[in-house]
Parts: sequence; C-alpha cells; structure tokens
Amino acid sequence: MNRNIEQLELNQIYQLDVLEGLSLLPDNSVDSAIDDPPYNIGLVGAHVNLRNGYQAINEDWDKIENFEEFTTELLCQLYRVLKPGGSLLNYGTHHNIFLTGQLMKYIGFKVKMMYVWKKLNPPPSFLGTNPTYATEFIIWAVKEGSKCTYNLDYAKHINSGKNIRNVFETPLTPQREKKYGKFPCQKPLDMTTKLINLHSNENDVVLVPFCGSGTEVVAAALSNRQFISFDINQKYIDIANARLNNLEESRALVSGLLNPTSA
Ligand SMILES: C[S@@+](CC[C@H](N)C(=O)[O-])C[C@H]1O[C@@H](n2cnc3c(N)ncnc32)[C@H](O)[C@@H]1O
Repeated sequence: MNRNIEQLELNQIYQLDVLEGLSLLPDNSVDSAIDDPPYNIGLVGAHVNLRNGYQAINEDWDKIENFEEFTTELLCQLYRVLKPGGSLLNYGTHHNIFLTGQLMKYIGFKVKMMYVWKKLNPPPSFLGTNPTYATEFIIWAVKEGSKCTYNLDYAKHINSGKNIRNVFETPLTPQREKKYGKFPCQKPLDMTTKLINLHSNENDVVLVPFCGSGTEVVAAALSNRQFISFDINQKYIDIANARLNNLEESRALVSGLLNPTSA
C-alpha cells in the first residue's frame, strides 16, 4: 500500500532536519512514534574513551547547545502529529530521560510507564569511577483522547503465554545487524520489533523521527506497518535503505518475534 500524508509519501526516509520534517505532517496524522533522539551525551563529555575498541558516542549530531529548547520543540511536534490514543516510545539515558519525562507531562502526554533495556554485554566503565552502565530506558507516553494500544496477545506470544515484564534483556546490537555499515548507536532489532508490535497495529503509520541506520523502519516494515522517517545524514539513510532493500535478511533474524498473523 502506498499512501501519502500530504506531501510526504509513506515508507520513505527523508533527508531533512527533524523539525522541518515534522512541520510537513498535519495534526493527528500518525498512529505511533518511536523516538531515538540525540541524548546529548557528547556535549556533557561523558563516554568519550575509545580504549579497548569500544565505540563512544562522540558525534557532532549528538552535541546540541540548546538541548532543552530542542527537546521541547521536538516533543510538542510529536504530540501535535500523533493521533489521540497514539503512543510515543522515547529512548534515553540519564542524560535526557528526566528532561523528556518532565516535558512530556507539561505538554499533555500521559506517561504510561517506562521500559528498561538491560544490556547483557555492556561496555565496561573505563575509568572505574562509576558502575558499568548496563541500561537504557524507553518512556511509553500517550496522547490522550482515545484508547491507546497495548497488544496483550502479542505480549503473550513473545513470552510463552504470559504477559511480559517491562524489561528487555538483550545484548548490544550484534555485528550481523550491521552488514550494511557501521553506526555508533544502532538499536537491537529484536527489542525494536517487540516495541512496535506491542504499541501499534498492522497498517498503522509509525513515525520514526530519527532514522539513523534504520532499525525502527526495518522493524516497522517487517511488522506490516507503514512508516515515515527523517535524518539529516544521507550516509545513515543509505544504510537504512540497504537494510530495507534486503528485508528478508532481517526477517530471518526476528521471524519468531513477528506476529504470526502478519509474518
Ligand atoms: C540515536 S540515532 C538513531 C539510531 C536508530 N535508532 C538506529 O537504530 O539506527 C539518532 C540519529 O538522529 C540523526 N539526527 C540528529 N539530529 C537530527 C536532526 N536535527 N534532524 C534529523 N536527524 C537528526 C543522526 O544523524 C542520527 O542518525
């Protein structure tokens, strides 16, 4: 199915600044959004030791001087374009998650709960001045006004017949998911597929404001969702499009996590 939302074609990644891209979307036009934004880790100087071959987040796009203003505008736009009842899944660490949660409440979102990503093989704490970071968080927030989506049957499908807990235990993104190019903060496809299937339905439009290497758009495509995505960096969009063009390779990695009725 190829539909448009005004001038934006579905299932495309646009090389645009996120705020410019979002301004092209009408109010109440997307069913859900999965937002993996810059965390602003680079600017506060954390996590820049490259010893032992571990990759640090030290990217220009992650250094935002007016981070609070940027995050406010981003969340306001996401609220505007979500349909009532639409879910926003928003990644973060302590660098951005408290600001994000607080702003969500001011803007009008209902913060439903928080997922934890427990990393099974986290990079070590290089200096030993703090415990090893082994978690990231995903806020689930909803634009109120209609019933929100939580697919209990799917939750049971991926958890031996029982509802899931709000913890995803999975390793850092494996190399086999990086065949089309290296990217410093690629999210694992298994966790992303679960999030999308839990909080959207088939044919829904899933907004991916920051495409990166395309994990969320790949998971959406595999799950028979429509997507719209933005990124400022064409080299990352190229990786994402290569993954989309070779979708069957990704399907083989997460086939057990796809909804049996849509796989
Ligand atoms: C955390 S990464 C997303 C990674 C993605 N979840 C994945 O698994 O590949 C954030 C992305 O946002 C992009 N980005 C940063 N600032 C942006 C902006 N103002 N507008 C659009 N894209 C931006 C970066 O180029 C980067 O690819």
